[in-house]
Amino acid sequence: MKGLLLGLCALFLAGVADAKEFMTADQFLALQTFNGKSPIKQGDPVHGRKLYSMYCTPCHGMEGDGKGQLARLLDPAPRDHTDGQGKRKGDGMNDRTDKQLFNAISDGGQGISKSVNMPAWKHTISEKSRWDIIAYLRAIAKPVYVPK
Ligand code: HEC
Repeated sequence: MKGLLLGLCALFLAGVADAKEFMTADQFLALQTFNGKSPIKQGDPVHGRKLYSMYCTPCHGMEGDGKGQLARLLDPAPRDHTDGQGKRKGDGMNDRTDKQLFNAISDGGQGISKSVNMPAWKHTISEKSRWDIIAYLRAIAKPVYVPK
């Protein structure tokens, strides 16, 4: 397990060192079409975006499209957070309730019977900040998320 983690880190760092797609957080933020607003009232999406770029982009990608540096090592693949509709009916980001997203982020894949490669964040990211991330996730889904 340790070996795998070290390997993942090494691969990630190697990728960061030579990848042409690497960019600074500021460049990443400038790239977003994100307007600082979220369709949900709870959470601060601007803060959420900062946290997302730190913790989530290695797997979920700079633009949240699931194409992070580590994605090719992961099966199932990291979710495309911009895909509101989903490949199968009822499986889009917009079909998830806020609470489902909160549970997935807090308890990780293991907590929701999905891939253990999706880490649990409840010990790393405060509850308030996890809601900030959800506010950001709601803002990047296409089509635009409409609260139910
Ligand atoms: C080490 C890679 C990795 C990191 C880092 C990571 N994820 Fe994931 N995530 C995954 C994988 C893999 C899946 C797909 C799980 C599956 O479908 O079984 C996933 C799935 C998800 C899902 C979808 C759960 C569902 O309902 O289908 C959400 C939401 C999510 N991640 C949010 C986040 C957030 C927010 C962060 C940062 C705080 C993050 N992830 C960081 C790998 C990662």
